[in-house]
Amino acid sequence: MENPKYLLSLVGKHRRILFLSLIISGIMSILGILIPYFAKAQIDQLQFKYTNIWFFSTSSLLVFFIWLGLPFLIELLRNIFLKRLEQKISLKLTFASTRHIRELVWEKFRFMDGSFFENNASRRIIGMVIRSDNIIKDSLYVASRILNSVVLIIVAIPVLGAIGWQLVAITFFSVFISSIISVFDQKREALYQAIRDRSFDAYSQIDSLLTYNYRDARALGAVNSLENKYDKVTYKQYLVEKEGQSQRHFYQSSDNFIRELLALAVNLVAGYWVISKGYSLGTFTLVVAYTMQLSRSFRDLTDLVRTSMEMDLRITQLKFFLNLRPRLVFSNKTEEIIEPPKQVSIVDGYFGYTGYGREEKAYLEMILERSRRFITRYGHNGLGWQLKGLIEEMEKLEKPTQVLKGIDFHLNRGEIVALLGRNGVGKTTITNVLMHIYELDRGKILIDNRPINDFEHQSLLQQFAVIQQFPIILWGISIRENLNVGINKEVSDDEIWKQLKIVGLSDKIKELPKGLDTIMGDEINLSGGQNQLLVIARVFLQQRPFIIFDEGMSNLDAEHEMNIVKLLKTQAKHSGVLFITHRITAARHADRIVVIDQGKISQEGTHTSLVKKDGIYKHFWNLQVVS
Ligand SMILES: Nc1ncnc2c1ncn2[C@@H]1O[C@H](COP(=O)(O)OP(=O)(O)OP(=O)(O)O)[C@@H](O)[C@H]1O
Ligand SMILES: [Mg+2]
Repeated sequence: MENPKYLLSLVGKHRRILFLSLIISGIMSILGILIPYFAKAQIDQLQFKYTNIWFFSTSSLLVFFIWLGLPFLIELLRNIFLKRLEQKISLKLTFASTRHIRELVWEKFRFMDGSFFENNASRRIIGMVIRSDNIIKDSLYVASRILNSVVLIIVAIPVLGAIGWQLVAITFFSVFISSIISVFDQKREALYQAIRDRSFDAYSQIDSLLTYNYRDARALGAVNSLENKYDKVTYKQYLVEKEGQSQRHFYQSSDNFIRELLALAVNLVAGYWVISKGYSLGTFTLVVAYTMQLSRSFRDLTDLVRTSMEMDLRITQLKFFLNLRPRLVFSNKTEEIIEPPKQVSIVDGYFGYTGYGREEKAYLEMILERSRRFITRYGHNGLGWQLKGLIEEMEKLEKPTQVLKGIDFHLNRGEIVALLGRNGVGKTTITNVLMHIYELDRGKILIDNRPINDFEHQSLLQQFAVIQQFPIILWGISIRENLNVGINKEVSDDEIWKQLKIVGLSDKIKELPKGLDTIMGDEINLSGGQNQLLVIARVFLQQRPFIIFDEGMSNLDAEHEMNIVKLLKTQAKHSGVLFITHRITAARHADRIVVIDQGKISQEGTHTSLVKKDGIYKHFWNLQVVS
């Protein structure tokens, strides 16, 4: 009961449209149910044999024309006017609610930290919630189907009852048997789906490995074994499909046979009543038509149980996401950064990557439980992948890894700071917390002595130009657009060429027939180092107050590296540069060198001061340079 209410809250201010849509759908159902009644009246007229229902008499000629014309008009109204109206309203509602849900989701994204976007399991959850925006549309469908059935029962049963209670009895009997058949039908289908899904999962995994990762599989020398596996799984799938098909055919034909038999029985009984009790032929058709409508509608209802369960699951998932604890904290009133800041610092910072909190874990467990129930009853039906994502999420709920343990660090505009330390010591983590991509557990991040939470995030991120170990290239767009991205002002081609020349990439790009309009990835593939140079050019064009090089030079040759270090020095006139490197030859040029160890700063100073002291820096220097 909780979820339908929640769903209604998602419809928000569009509730009126929702109800209007349901009303129209209800009217259409009623009109549809009246049609067999009119058919009866027509036949009765033609037969000149009348059965009165309540106070309606079907005897005069005028009435005959009314019986003929009215259903025609009603069908016109229903199929042309009302149908179009319903479509229009439902489209409008879908559009509005989709937008509304998307907004909620995007708003939630703003508060999620880096790890949420980084791992595959979350990506699945993201995919799931992004797609959940059609739940309103689907639930509208479910609601109108239920409404239809209810209306049918309310209208058809009394009409039949007015003629004779036996008619109601035979109808119910037939509907009852047909519903039982449907339930068994679904159970079997679920069993078959479950087996099929399992083999399909295996198949699609190997399939994607072979299609998308063929190159890598080949490089690993694994193509043959994969191909063999592929063959085996495909064959297994074939067998499952074959077995399933023959089973299905057998059951479906027996189902159909029983249904036909049932219809025959109804026809016979009703026919007998026509003769023995003097019912009209019209009444006969009425009974047959209503029995069929009711059977179909009950079959629909059993199907709807499944759909509603699936809907329930999807709503729960969406709710789970929207209820996630915000990972990033912002002040009540955040500000845009207008003046370029002078300093960014961490004061006594503690940070660990965490899994989910206790409430979220409980919520996830509930979803998982429901998903399992659903799957055992109805098979995977595409839910398999989502469930897998959830299970992966659960497995991630491990103890947090503490990375920063009392760090004090600052970066001023106008200086170059090199950050050194062993792999996994937390260097990248420091840059992430500085940019508020993660929230510290304890301590503060300050921008010009003000808490980082006071600033609007996009505007904060625009203060940093970043080069990561794997440079961010936007594939499928031109070199020019790649260089312009994130720059709010117009950048002339002259400026672009100048920067390309400075980083040493202009000759390469001048060679290209389309120059700056060359599409990255489609029309040109640059080397790893050239990609880095391109991103470095972008960073220089961006002219942001702080530049972060996270191993941004790892792919550069010695000559380019030296060139970039020199460039950084010129940049440091107006920007603060933080560069993370494992190469001491580059680090030594920094104004200040900071060495991180065991979650803290272990050494700090200039190259000349640090090589003299025992410690990690001297150790690295000896390893890399002296020996
Ligand atoms: N998203 C994440 N979720 C959980 N743990 C993480 C995540 N990112 C990093 N870690 C862990 O935090 C620690 C610090 O990682 P970080 O990337 O900051 O190291 P680093 O100093 O940059 O290392 P490297 O020199 O290899 O780049 C590592 O032990 C790593 O396994
Ligand atoms: Mg790193």
